Amino acid sequence: MAMLLRLAAGLLLMSQVGASSAQDQARIARGKYLMEGVVACGNCHVARAENGAPVFSRGLSGGMVFDEPPFKAYAPNITPDPETGIGKWTDAQLGKAIREGIRPDGSIIGPPMPIEFYRRMSDADLAAIIAYLRVQPPVKNAVRKSEYRIPLPPDYGPAVKDVRAPSPRETIKYGQYLADIGHCMECHTPRDEKGMLVLTRLGAGGQVFKGPWGESVARNLTPHESGLKGWSKEEIAQAIRGTGRNGFHYKPPMAFDWYKNVSGADMNALVAYLGSLKPQPFGGKE
Ligand code: HEC
Ligand code: HEC
Repeated sequence: MAMLLRLAAGLLLMSQVGASSAQDQARIARGKYLMEGVVACGNCHVARAENGAPVFSRGLSGGMVFDEPPFKAYAPNITPDPETGIGKWTDAQLGKAIREGIRPDGSIIGPPMPIEFYRRMSDADLAAIIAYLRVQPPVKNAVRKSEYRIPLPPDYGPAVKDVRAPSPRETIKYGQYLADIGHCMECHTPRDEKGMLVLTRLGAGGQVFKGPWGESVARNLTPHESGLKGWSKEEIAQAIRGTGRNGFHYKPPMAFDWYKNVSGADMNALVAYLGSLKPQPFGGKE
């Protein structure tokens, strides 16, 4: 009898291990879908070739440089390499870095890491992204420290916890959630002289990005004449995947190399959200 019980307990344990690894697999799959799709951390954390194309073979080992008047920022190595990456960070430390912009040593992560938007990331999606980061191959690549000529904020707000994503059935709200974790508005909203986003002009475009691709200008995503008014849903979805009207190919840093993997339903929600934005004339001026 005792043996039978022990056997039963052993089987129970085995089935629990099985269940938790199935859960882990689902979490990693969700992380992969997000990271190789709408979330697109790699748009900054993957190195770029001379021609501006992402070098996916180097993984999320960093190296992209953002040379702007207020800062010269280097995207760090976020592969699990223990010396040059995040291999020694715990899940909680990684979560705090991503959603609150605070490193394990207490220092603040500066722009253009889009912390303001990541604060709205759900607990479940954060866990999925961390699970995905953990299973990436470690890459050794020491990245330089960023230099900020502006004071960084002491923090980005109170500690973030218990965040749930809206239901995908609430299409516009869910589309906004996807746009937040996809940091669309970090690029598509004009900035003031201090480099801060002008949130009253959400989505109006106008930021200029220089790089190996030459120069590109974030476009107006609001339903205004100078924006997406008159575009079909299909045309907007196509543009997010990288091809504009008349077969025009967009330039980086628009993250089409990632966004092209966004599912039809999620793309539909994103497009519905853009349609709900307040129409605004292009750029920073009233
Ligand atoms: C728009 C560009 C951009 C995007 C998108 C971005 N990051 Fe970052 N990230 C940066 C930069 C630049 C830094 C360094 C800032 C500094 O030096 O203070 C950074 C810092 C970090 C750090 C701190 C690492 C360290 O060693 O200090 C982590 C962790 C991180 N990012 C993870 C992520 C994850 C996960 C995502 C996606 C959910 C993401 N980042 C998206 C640009 C970006
Ligand atoms: C890192 C900056 C960046 C991010 C993040 C970004 N975009 Fe863009 N986007 C751009 C730039 C720059 C262009 C214009 C590229 C060009 O002219 O070749 C653009 C172009 C577009 C266009 C084409 C509009 C037109 O009028 O032709 C659409 C639509 C668009 N982005 C939607 C989005 C959405 C939705 C997201 C988030 C899921 C997003 N973008 C995230 C920089 C960005």
